[in-house]
Amino acid sequence: MIRYLKIDTNHALYPQECALRESVLLRPLGKDIAWFHTNYPEIDPRAEHFVAVLDHPAGERVVGCVLLIPHYPEPGSGKLMQMAVDPQRQGEGIGRRLVIELETRAFGELRLSEVFCHAQLSAMPFYGRLGWQADNDEFLEAGIPHHRMALRHVAATDD
Ligand SMILES: CC(C)(COP(=O)(O)OP(=O)(O)OC[C@H]1O[C@@H](n2cnc3c(N)ncnc32)[C@H](O)[C@@H]1OP(=O)(O)O)[C@@H](O)C(=O)NCCC(=O)NCCS
Repeated sequence: MIRYLKIDTNHALYPQECALRESVLLRPLGKDIAWFHTNYPEIDPRAEHFVAVLDHPAGERVVGCVLLIPHYPEPGSGKLMQMAVDPQRQGEGIGRRLVIELETRAFGELRLSEVFCHAQLSAMPFYGRLGWQADNDEFLEAGIPHHRMALRHVAATDD
């Protein structure tokens, strides 16, 4: 069974989250998690960390994660970062569920009006399936083409 939790950097599962980010997102760029923490020291302490946890007889295993930086870069906006699913568990709906957990928190308790991310070209269809809209402008980040993608909160009406 897979459980979805919101954790912080003091949680026992945080090192597993870091290991997953390193293997899925950073190693392909020739970087490691120490490089990330050195270059972006403010991100992990400030972020809300959503993890997908597989209950396994050998112990809990983090198989997916995503970060939300609330009120960034300005109040009312939030940035999704470090979206990663274990390659052995991709295509099972884990990424979708993590983003929905993030959206629910962002538009619910945090009352943000927009969440956005910098999406690699290969991941754009994934965010698109979740209703996120892409800007036309392409830009390089870590040497890889990206587009800004965003989802705006639509307020419920009474009628
Ligand atoms: C992108 C990623 C997070 C998706 O997670 P996932 O758990 O495999 O995705 P899901 O199973 O929840 O897929 C949800 C939907 O998106 C679609 N989808 C997922 N990845 C896709 C891709 N790369 N291209 C096209 N469609 C994709 C699925 O087919 C599914 O469609 P459906 O609505 O018809 O069922 C995962 O593949 C991953 O970690 N990739 C490597 C790291 C990465 O690219 N991170 C994002 C950086 S911006």
